[in-house]
Amino acid sequence: MHIEWLRVQNVRNLTDVIIEPSPGINIFTGPNASGKTAILEAIHFLSRARSFRTTRVSEIIQHQKDILLVTANIQHPRFGRVKTGIERKQGKTSILYKGESVKKLSQQASNIPLILITTNTHRLITGTPKYRRHWLDWALFHVEPAYLKIWYDYHRSLRHRNSLLKSGITVGEQLSGWEYLMVEAANKINTLRGDFIKQLQKIVSKYTQEVFSDQPHLTLLSGWPEDKSLNLCLELGRESDKQIGYTRHGVHRADIKFSDNSYRLSSTYSQGQIKLFVATVLVAQARLFEERTGNKPFFLIDDFAAELDTQARAEFISLLIKQKAQVFLTTTETSPETLTTGPSMMFHVERGTFTKVAK
Ligand SMILES: Nc1ncnc2c1ncn2[C@@H]1O[C@H](COP(=O)(O)OP(=O)(O)OP(=O)(O)O)[C@@H](O)[C@H]1O
Ligand SMILES: [Mg+2]
Repeated sequence: MHIEWLRVQNVRNLTDVIIEPSPGINIFTGPNASGKTAILEAIHFLSRARSFRTTRVSEIIQHQKDILLVTANIQHPRFGRVKTGIERKQGKTSILYKGESVKKLSQQASNIPLILITTNTHRLITGTPKYRRHWLDWALFHVEPAYLKIWYDYHRSLRHRNSLLKSGITVGEQLSGWEYLMVEAANKINTLRGDFIKQLQKIVSKYTQEVFSDQPHLTLLSGWPEDKSLNLCLELGRESDKQIGYTRHGVHRADIKFSDNSYRLSSTYSQGQIKLFVATVLVAQARLFEERTGNKPFFLIDDFAAELDTQARAEFISLLIKQKAQVFLTTTETSPETLTTGPSMMFHVERGTFTKVAK
């Protein structure tokens, strides 16, 4: 899937920008504050109805404007050319896809799958388990149609268990009923997550073979001790969970361990290594997505050069080129090595205006 034509109206300093990007690598270069990240935010908004920089949509609407619009023609592997658009007006978001109004935000996110790589991406390794779970859930949501429903079922049962414990109930059919449903959903989620991590590991190993001297490993930690069933953990934990006010075991406590020769990457890898590795994991995620759905997500890569030396950049770009995916990449530098292979386009950005630069 790729964007053929894009129009951005009233996103930060972009008043009315139209571009016809390459199906390959698109580079936005220009000085600070010119609007490079703003165009990535606009594309992200089209897919997810939110920015990746702020939780408040009102902040990305151009000052003194009351409407934000992002429209695009997309080339879809199954549907051919698809028109889509998103509008934000008076606090309300409306989405159109293939001439129909899209009611669920999750629907538009799967209509327009994307992979985001920013200067915060290292958080997949250095951040909290919550961040990793969030990433894992999104990744699975994109490839497993049943995942979202099971995820909701699980969290509903968890909420009921927590509120029963809070009201002092530690025995009885109601509690064990919710625990039963929790365990049922948890086992499904854990299996889907485990399969996903295993498949991802295979691709990651292939991609990292040349770049990293050892083989970084991804391990799923289920959220309860390996030698016990969740059922038992919940039953034995009722009293102590009541005391601390939440459920200590379950898939809501899962994590992913990234390690290399049994050392955690977060404590051994340099910042550049972490960024390159996480970016590689995300490319692997895109590949897995493509294998499962037949569709290629596109990449939004903000401030590409940050923390990567010339060799790391070249390695990552060559990995990206091999994916034959559409890429939107911002950098304050012009990186000539990125223009050597594959279809690519470069845009110079200056105060919210985009000019295509001849190759
Ligand atoms: N709501 C808004 N309305 C109008 N302009 C805004 C709004 N929010 C931010 N801006 C301006 O938009 C401009 C574009 O910012 P953006 O973050 O896209 O720059 P950039 O090219 O990515 O810069 P850098 O290289 O520093 O990352 C900035 O000058 C910023 O002050
Ligand atoms: Mg920027």
